[in-house]
Amino acid sequence: MKRLEELQAREEARFVETHPRSRELAQQARSHLFEGVPMHWMRKWPGGFPVFVQEATGARFTDVDGIEYVDFCLGDTGAMTGHAPAPTLKALTDQSAKGITLMLPSEDSLWVSEELTRRFGVSSWQFALTATDANRFAIRLTRHLTGRSTILVFNWCYHGTVDETFATLGADGVVRARSGNLGPPVDPATTTRVVEFNDVDALERELAGGDVALVLTEPALTNIGIVHPEPGFHDALRELTRVHGTLLAIDETHTICCGPGGYTQEHGLEPDVVTIGKPIAGGIPAAAYGFSAETAARLAGTIELEDVDVGGVGGTLAANALSFAAMRATLGEVLTEEAFARMIPLAERWTAGVEAGISESGLPWHVTRLGCRAEYLFGPSRPSTGQDAHDAGDAALERYMHLFALNRGILLTPFHNMALMSPATTEADVDRHTDVFREAVLELAGVG
Ligand SMILES: Cc1ncc(COP(=O)(O)O)c(C=O)c1O
Repeated sequence: MKRLEELQAREEARFVETHPRSRELAQQARSHLFEGVPMHWMRKWPGGFPVFVQEATGARFTDVDGIEYVDFCLGDTGAMTGHAPAPTLKALTDQSAKGITLMLPSEDSLWVSEELTRRFGVSSWQFALTATDANRFAIRLTRHLTGRSTILVFNWCYHGTVDETFATLGADGVVRARSGNLGPPVDPATTTRVVEFNDVDALERELAGGDVALVLTEPALTNIGIVHPEPGFHDALRELTRVHGTLLAIDETHTICCGPGGYTQEHGLEPDVVTIGKPIAGGIPAAAYGFSAETAARLAGTIELEDVDVGGVGGTLAANALSFAAMRATLGEVLTEEAFARMIPLAERWTAGVEAGISESGLPWHVTRLGCRAEYLFGPSRPSTGQDAHDAGDAALERYMHLFALNRGILLTPFHNMALMSPATTEADVDRHTDVFREAVLELAGVG
């Protein structure tokens, strides 16, 4: 621990010394930005202050001190397309001269909804600006449809800033507000059941009362480290939700990393609802939620025309023309089959590099991959529940690894040890990470 503290102090000093302009801006920012950042979680970047960005293209960005970075964070998936992909940029330029937001549909909405149907199977789509809102609206509409007030999520899930999902399972099996849950409107135990991912028995027990409107889940957890579903888990989840009249929503916001149609298409899932946001418009705010034909048929006609704009589902800027132009270009020309065929092998290469570093160092860590996303965790084996993954976390170690990488021109996601490949990422970028990771772990383990 003492050794880690010393290494951390060394890296912090190096960071401050090499980022004078970012430091100056961070000090100025304290005057009119709450706690010195425009979004409070930016305080979480390692080093005491965030680097200020000058410009970003493809898989790289340059900061205001003129340092270039390989970006494996990619806006925590918002920029999985790479920064400023040319087709999206062109569509944005063209569309912004022709109208940005009108509260009227453009033809692009037809193309985008057909394409999402082709990719994810569900066939009746609505649009929002963020994945958070897509999830909120899906929850509202499925509660409305089923007449049930409760939803079920898996322990340590993340689906955006959705009140009902900020609930965790205590060691005593009782549902509680997640630590850090700011001002919950009600005790989440009144809105939400929580079970461990991969725990079919608990799922069955919680659905058996027939009062759960919706199970909302990522098909593999990605926000507490990667937790893969065990064989048979998705079959059981689908069967149990059907038996108990509960709808099933699959949140593909991160798991689109598995391929053009996300985990759903790759593994032939049959959800009632799919939600997605972040990269589908190349970083321009856009999100979607789609219903299966059967769910849409049940929902049709149940929303009064007079109340359609005040029912708690909406947003003036949602479904705007600019977002649709960006989605059409991004889905049509950037996040394509060919792009995934490049991105996934890069993640395999990244994983192999990390694996080699871990094994050379002898540290009891492991690395997991999901499509073009990969992540190392500070435990010897793959977690099978959110709690296992949570318990393998180590905030001090994480801060150190991130700062070590940042000081050597590599950006990882601040919330976990995640790396994402974009269509613009290269093998050389991956190998740079491998070298830096190796240097970090060998030093940490005192090997070599
Ligand atoms: C699986 C998942 N769903 C939804 C969201 C919310 O996305 P946003 O913050 O863009 O609303 C996130 C954000 O990390 C996510 O990981």
